[in-house]
Amino acid sequence: MKVIAFVNNKGGVGKTTCSKLMAEYLSKVKKIPTLGIDFDPQCNFSHQYLKMEIDPAAPEGLMPPIHPDYATDDPDHIDWDGRSSISEIFYGQGVVPYPTYLQHLDLAPGHAEKLLAAEAVRKSEVVDKVHKQLANFLNSEDVKAAYDAVVIDTAPSKGPLTVSVMKAATHIVIPSVMEEQPVQGIYGMLQLWMQESLAREKDRPLKLIGILPNMFKQTRLHKDILKCLQENPAISKYVLPVSLSQRIVFAEIDAEEANPRSIFDYSVSHVAKQEAEEVCAYITERIFS
Ligand SMILES: Nc1ncnc2c1ncn2[C@@H]1O[C@H](COP(=O)(O)OP(=O)(O)OP(=O)(O)O)[C@@H](O)[C@H]1O
Ligand SMILES: [Mg+2]
Repeated sequence: MKVIAFVNNKGGVGKTTCSKLMAEYLSKVKKIPTLGIDFDPQCNFSHQYLKMEIDPAAPEGLMPPIHPDYATDDPDHIDWDGRSSISEIFYGQGVVPYPTYLQHLDLAPGHAEKLLAAEAVRKSEVVDKVHKQLANFLNSEDVKAAYDAVVIDTAPSKGPLTVSVMKAATHIVIPSVMEEQPVQGIYGMLQLWMQESLAREKDRPLKLIGILPNMFKQTRLHKDILKCLQENPAISKYVLPVSLSQRIVFAEIDAEEANPRSIFDYSVSHVAKQEAEEVCAYITERIFS
């Protein structure tokens, strides 16, 4: 089972957009049984596939809806409130992924308050526990039997949640806008990747697919920053030969009422679809080859 995560501690660089593209490419185009995981308390990835609800206990945050398999009269469900998020891994509860409108894509959604609680953990012995939970969950026989690919969307942070993802992933991609602040995020992520690589067993490496330029515009600024990365001897080998341009349709398909819902529903001649397909095919080839 391949576990791919999009990471960058800077916000708004395209982690969620890329997670969505990748999850839809693998499940819809390649028909690979895929599990999407939303590890960001903002729950943007979850909101793409589920009608997330406002959490009455923490009204600024979202929680998953009642699971379609939940039945109040089922004696097996007596200890279940009917909602399930990936954050149950921190509370010793089972995670019950939700089906999505795509046949081969399930989703383990986020839960704002519970993920924030895990992110806020600081005591070293508890942090250690948090770090291992996602890897343990993905190593379970049930998950490995059900899915061949897992796509994880992450929070814009370098905290316990992102570290857990680094420990659980087989592959990471660092999306970045070619601007000063987001590029700083690349260095932070490379550092985390190296730390994790050193700590890993040799037979379980964490592979860095590379840095994916996103929202790329043919402006002086973007071209100069990309060139700078491509000419930096320590970085150049990680800059991917594919990129996503700034295209309104990538933002439009985020909307709740978007129709079509997936970029892969557009016609073959649509430039944004072609670009998304090129990027996803490249990443898929690197992961599965
Ligand atoms: N290539 C693109 N072209 C146009 N708009 C884009 C593109 N990629 C992402 N966007 C838009 O930019 C915004 C930020 O993208 P996204 O939410 O994917 O970033 P993020 O890294 O997940 O942010 P956060 O760190 O807050 O989770 C969104 O509104 C998204 O629709
Ligand atoms: Mg996001």
